[in-house]
Amino acid sequence: MIGVFDSGVGGLTVLEALAAELPCEHFVYLGDTARLPYGTKSAETVVRYALQATGALMQYPLKCLVIACNTASAVSLPAIRERMANVPVIGVIEPGAEAACAASRSGRIAVIATEGTVRGAAYEEAIRRRRADVRLTALPAPLFVALAEEGVCEGPIAEAVAHHYLDPLFAAPRRPDTLVLGCTHFPMLIQAIRAAVGAQVTIVDSAQTTARHVRRTLREAGLAAAGGQGSLRLLATDAPQRFARIGSRFLERPIEAHEVELVDL
Ligand code: DGL
Repeated sequence: MIGVFDSGVGGLTVLEALAAELPCEHFVYLGDTARLPYGTKSAETVVRYALQATGALMQYPLKCLVIACNTASAVSLPAIRERMANVPVIGVIEPGAEAACAASRSGRIAVIATEGTVRGAAYEEAIRRRRADVRLTALPAPLFVALAEEGVCEGPIAEAVAHHYLDPLFAAPRRPDTLVLGCTHFPMLIQAIRAAVGAQVTIVDSAQTTARHVRRTLREAGLAAAGGQGSLRLLATDAPQRFARIGSRFLERPIEAHEVELVDL
């Protein structure tokens, strides 16, 4: 089984990409909806929550763990790897950084994320490790999280918020040529974000790049499923009905509340 962990429903964008890339795999997804959001919390608290979620997922026969949450990936990956020493643990930051470095010609890259991810500077480190010439701007864009959860992903409000965050960066003459969506929720707002930055900017969706990275890792480790029909088990730490309602949009398929198992960490 492949474990996927997020602070809530946002990681379903990563799960959707994983399921498309790996249709024969069995997934167990844990959304820590009782303690969402992680993006505004201290690194110490996020590490503690992430280790508890990891502990819950370790009850399943995991061959790989994906930290779908950017904030948790940014601050807790080393601690989780230490806890799960025998299984590959993959976060969303490194694949996103790799794709951004490969895509950028000018070396000007922007990352939008939660406050916690920006503060943790993990994208900066991962990008600079690959390309010392990069000029990186990392910007918190917390309103996008609320908009995505409320389903306000297109139209004048979403576009106004996208312009509010992105115009100061992308209206400038030496603007970035690459934008990393460094938060699980942001792919939901891709149209508004695209309208604000224009057609020339490469947008890196870390859900897609992570899914490809997981596929490569499993194949190289000889752990990929040989065939058969994949499956999905959904766990949440609070409000399964809300998880199902909002999660349906993120996963782009209907989720029934009874499909979501309530778990306590
Ligand atoms: N999943 C979080 C992330 O990708 C966004 C939501 C939250 O703040 O918990 O950073």
